[in-house]
Amino acid sequence: MGRSHRTQVGIVGCGPAGLLLSQLLHVYGIESVILERKDRAYVEGRIRAGVLEQGTVDLLREAGVADRLDREGLIHNGFEIAGNRRRHRIALDELTDGKVVTVYGQTEVTKDLIAARLAAGGEIVFEADAVTPHDFDSAKPFLTYSHQGENYRLDCDIIAGCDGFHGICRQSLPKEAVRSFERAYPFAWLGILAQAAPAADELIYAHHDRGFALCSMRSETISRHYVQCSPDEDLSNWSDARIWDELRHRIGDTDGHHINEGPLLDKSITPMRSFVAEPMRHGALYLAGDAAHIVPPTGAKGLNLAMSDIHYLTRALVSFYKKNSTDLLDRYSDQALARVWKAERFSWWMTSLLHKFPNEGGYDRAFENRMQEAEIEYLMSSHAAQTVVAENYVGLPF
Ligand code: APR
Ligand code: PHB
Repeated sequence: MGRSHRTQVGIVGCGPAGLLLSQLLHVYGIESVILERKDRAYVEGRIRAGVLEQGTVDLLREAGVADRLDREGLIHNGFEIAGNRRRHRIALDELTDGKVVTVYGQTEVTKDLIAARLAAGGEIVFEADAVTPHDFDSAKPFLTYSHQGENYRLDCDIIAGCDGFHGICRQSLPKEAVRSFERAYPFAWLGILAQAAPAADELIYAHHDRGFALCSMRSETISRHYVQCSPDEDLSNWSDARIWDELRHRIGDTDGHHINEGPLLDKSITPMRSFVAEPMRHGALYLAGDAAHIVPPTGAKGLNLAMSDIHYLTRALVSFYKKNSTDLLDRYSDQALARVWKAERFSWWMTSLLHKFPNEGGYDRAFENRMQEAEIEYLMSSHAAQTVVAENYVGLPF
């Protein structure tokens, strides 16, 4: 039968969602255990996005894990859109009454959270195999898993499914209990991390006939860049020289932008998908982050959305444990989904605005292409349109 242990909240997945939940619960005196399939080095080595909304920064401060973020995070007051042979700066602070974003890698957020959990005596079981949620439609849910050849049972009050898009928690729900909404895009992003100074002080999102490109950064000496490629692209077709060449073509190597080359530290392909599962709760099982929804990375919303789910879930759990009220738990799914759908809309819109859509099945996209140009033109000339972009980019309120 194996060994049994007990906690208040059993968390599946040691990504930013599971980690932030565990750390915030600790701050409020609630116990949790995290079960993670991979090992620590793998979790801390994954390269992901890196734009944090102010609400995300505030939550990390509340969790007591923002010291390094406050020292090393880069404050960005704006970003640039390039397209139709023009460039336009979206002045985030001016358009939103002073709101800004912070550029700081998700990889670093993950490392800071793991260090804080372990320093506080938090329990993270890395390399937990065959994690399975049970009896979550009863008041006595539990998780089973195996670790280093032993079988375990973890009893808990609540299961938090923070196990990403491919995780087990959503898949464990009865088919008829979940409705999924999905859109796959006919392109992907090829991303590089390079030891080279950023192309400019701020991020550049570019629409180009050869495809979308994005110049981002991690620090004054590390660049993070992306180029649109086909979804079934073979990485071996993309030599370093070809990537730099495409970036120069798509971004434009002119005054204020210089694509600085340097050795690559990482090269990978990210598929593009929009996905939402409704509802985000079934009995005692609560989904959060990528386990419940995916956005294409164009709006930089993936991590931020995981963090706002955790904000709602933490408030609900604190109210449950400290005030014996299930009201916020009952409202969790509706509250989280209201914000999720707005971020889905923005991410879908930014993606549709800036990418080159292939002519599929002989369909001529001439009209859609002109619409895209007209929309970019409108965005570059309308204060109202820029305000809409800025308000969404800095993050809608929780
Ligand atoms: N058992 C245990 N752990 C699992 C299982 C499983 N069956 N399946 C997946 N996991 C783990 C993964 O190994 C991963 O560490 O769950 C974790 C999920 O983490 P993320 O994928 O980072 O998801 P989340 O925490 O919701 O963070 C959302 O990450 O994917 C990006 O764009 C996304 O930026 C957003 C953020
Ligand atoms: C990144 O820096 O990795 C990044 C920035 C902005 C995005 C997506 C990714 O929209």
